[in-house]
Formats: sequence, C-alpha cells, structure tokens
Amino acid sequence: MPVGFATAQKTRHFLHHQFLIKLFDNIHVVSCTSMDVDRMKNGVQTQNINVEVHVKSHSTAHLSDVRMHVLALLSRHSVVFGNYSWTEFDEEFLTKHIVSVAIVDVNQTVKQPLDLNSCSVFVHIFTLNEDGPSTLSLEDDEELSAANHWLLPAAEFHGIWESLEYESGVKTQLLDYVTTTIYFSDKNVDSNLISWNRVVLLHGPPGTGKTSLCKALAQKLSIRLSNRYSYGQFVEINSHSLFSKWFSESGKLVTKMFQKIQQLINDKDALVFVLIDEVESLTVARTACQAGTEPSDAIRVVNSVLTQLDQIKRHSNVVILTTSNVTEKIDLAFVDRADIKQYIGPPSEKGIYNIYLSCLEELMKCQIIHPRQQLFTISELETIGFAESEVCEHSLKLRKIALKSLGLSGRALRKLPFLAHALFVKTPTVTLERFLEAMDQAVAKQKEEKTNLVNGV
Ligand SMILES: Nc1ncnc2c1ncn2[C@@H]1O[C@H](COP(=O)(O)OP(=O)(O)OP(=O)(O)O)[C@@H](O)[C@H]1O
Ligand SMILES: [Mg+2]
Repeated sequence: MPVGFATAQKTRHFLHHQFLIKLFDNIHVVSCTSMDVDRMKNGVQTQNINVEVHVKSHSTAHLSDVRMHVLALLSRHSVVFGNYSWTEFDEEFLTKHIVSVAIVDVNQTVKQPLDLNSCSVFVHIFTLNEDGPSTLSLEDDEELSAANHWLLPAAEFHGIWESLEYESGVKTQLLDYVTTTIYFSDKNVDSNLISWNRVVLLHGPPGTGKTSLCKALAQKLSIRLSNRYSYGQFVEINSHSLFSKWFSESGKLVTKMFQKIQQLINDKDALVFVLIDEVESLTVARTACQAGTEPSDAIRVVNSVLTQLDQIKRHSNVVILTTSNVTEKIDLAFVDRADIKQYIGPPSEKGIYNIYLSCLEELMKCQIIHPRQQLFTISELETIGFAESEVCEHSLKLRKIALKSLGLSGRALRKLPFLAHALFVKTPTVTLERFLEAMDQAVAKQKEEKTNLVNGV
C-alpha cells in the first residue's frame, strides 16, 4: 500500500474517531462519564454500548447517584452476551429506584461475549411520562381534535422499539441518521454547504409497522438525547381525519393548530416530533381539488398544511416524521426532498419467528398456554443447524409455521395468536403443543383469506 494512502486512511480513521468523541462529548455530555470518554480517547476505536436506565416515576434519586450505582452494577457484571436487561437487583438502591437497566441495540451479528470494560459505555437515564395523549383541540368547547400530543418518553410508547422486527440494521441505521440530522441542526451547520433536512419518510405496504416505528424512533431519540433536550414532544396529525372533519372549515383552523405546535417548538429545550401519518392523503386531496371533484375549501386546507410544515421544519429542534403506503413518488415538495426515505416491508422468516416467539412467551406468562415450556430463539436454532431433537421439537414446529406465514404483514402476525385462540382453541388454558396446531390452522386460514381478497372473492 502506498505510504500516502496509508497515512490518509489513518488520518480519516483519526478524524472519524475525533468526530465520535465530539459527537458524544456534546450530545451526551452528562450521559457518559469521563471514564467513558477516556476509553474512547485512548486511541483505540471501541464498540459503543448504550445502556438505558428506566427510573421509577416516583423516585427522587439524583441522576449522579443513579449513574454511580448503575456503573457499579455494570462493573460487577461486565461480560454480556448481546442485549440484556436487569429488572431485579442485588442491591437496595437499585431495587428502590430503578425499574430496569438495559443494554440495548447491540449489534446482534457479533456473537462473542462483550467485555464492557473495553467498550465505550453510554448511560441514558430516563423516567416515563405516564399521562396518556392529550388532544390539541382548537376551540375551547370543540371536540374537533387537530392532533394527539404526547410528552416523551411516554409510557404508552415503551417497548414498541423492541417489539418491531426488521432486517438487522434497519432500526439502528434510522436512529443514526436522525441523530446526525439533529446534531447537525443543533450545531447550525450551514445547509447550503452540506445539504440535509429533518424530514423522514417511511413507506411500504399496510401493517408493516411504519406508524409504530415513528413513535418508537421518537421515544428512542428522546431517551438518547435527554442530555441535550430535557424532554420530547410528539404531535400526531392524522391527515385523514384532518380532511374529513375540516372540509367545511377554513384553512384558518390549520393555522391555529400549527400555532400550538409553534409554541412547543419555541421551547428550545424540547425536541419536537411531528408525525404526519399517511401523508399521501395530502396529495390525493390536492389532486382531487384540482380535478374539481372536491370543494375548493379542501385545497386551502392542504396548501395551508404544506406551507406550515415548510415553516416549522426550519427550526433546529423539529423532526418531521411521515409515513405512506404509496411506494411511487409522492408529489409533495417537503417529502420529496426527505433525506431519510426508508422502505419498510413485511418481516422475514427470522422476524416472523421472533414475533411469534414474543407472542407465545406472553401467553405463557399469562398462563393461557400452560405449562410453561422452553422455546429456543432463532439464533439458537441456527447454532444447532436446525437439527431435529426432542428438546427443540416445539421450536422447530414454530419455525415451520413462521415459514408458512411468509408474506403476512406484521399486523396480521401479531393478530394471529389471538385468532388461533378464538377460532381453534376455545378453552381457558391450553398446552403449547395444542396451541401451535391452532396457530398452524390460523395461518392457513389467513393465507386463504388473503388469496381470496387478491382474487376479489
Ligand atoms: N415488523 C414488525 N415487527 C413486529 N410487529 C410489527 C411489525 N410490523 C407491524 N407490526 C405490528 O403491527 C401493528 C400495526 O403496525 P402499524 O400500525 O405501525 O403499521 P403501519 O405500517 O403504520 O400500517 P398502515 O400502513 O396500515 O398504517 C403494530 O401493533 C405493530 O406492532
Ligand atoms: Mg400507519
């Protein structure tokens, strides 16, 4: 290798390393201890490990105490295998104040045990807001609700991130993208020189988890960036209901809704996520207006929404999340230019297996499936080469069902255990073996219904 090239590579490596130090130095000022940063600065690129610490909502413990006790826990259990969550603790402070300490989003392709002492550990401490959504209504006595609004991290969104199964890397890549956009905005990078924006578009077939993923992303970011932004706001605008309810109203109502959103944005300590679900309905409504099939009032509403969105997206603490079932180009300037466009498809065989596994674990926990029996994870099955044996009989049967379910959406899959029980079990408790048979029958039925739908029957 030419010397110049090697030097350039080293320099690039060094710069990337410095960037990471800076990135985390700035964003996670308090979340990483000086010890954490030192580990990064000693010249060796180490793996980043994120630890999410869920503090009980009534706890009055100081953040620094929580951090100290968590770091002590991690040093007592410094070797981990992938993601891991502690919910029971061997000391009083943690038991009293903490719900869980979770090592999250570890690259699952790395099968070796991880020694936390040689990793860069980032500790994110949060409590959940237990309040449900509030509606951003416009008039005092109005039942017209313009949007739903949550304070993040919200109890309602807890666990969504983990429940979503995608090809490896999809979720973390999205998270990294959005983190960088927020970081660039926060640092006032000149967008004429480096172009990026804070509009995310998730598109794909129905029921693949797009809306859920938006909520999960916002929740995750509000936890990860909790040292830069003291809280997150999540505003969900449902464009469908916007039009059905507001056709007869004037575009002024939209302006009012955005004024409320603007108030949230004005607090620079808040990171504001605005979700526009099924964004294509904006285009559809506009085209219908232009074709003269909709009242002209509608076009005012649409144009007003688009103008307002264009305005709010200029603020550095705003992220606009959009979803669409339409895979063709959406003719909306603010989405068209979205930097982050991610196709979200139905889960793979592995994903399906994991979804089913989580459903069965839940049913065993609730003792609907009884007695409890061991099921292996898909990677455990892979490790033994899917070899037939008595201990993994049920797991292999589940894999067959997963294979048979390919093509079903995440939504259909999550409903399947319920259908299996309703249609083919009908008794209060059931053995795992019998339940798997019921699931098999339910999958066959779902597939049949899907084909009938496609054939127009
Ligand atoms: N890949 C997946 N892994 C786990 N669960 C999934 C997956 N995809 C969808 N689900 C589940 O299906 C349900 C529906 O998801 P969601 O409403 O987010 O889908 P969507 O893509 O927004 O659908 P639509 O396009 O119809 O609005 C959720 O409960 C979600 O947990
Ligand atoms: Mg949706």
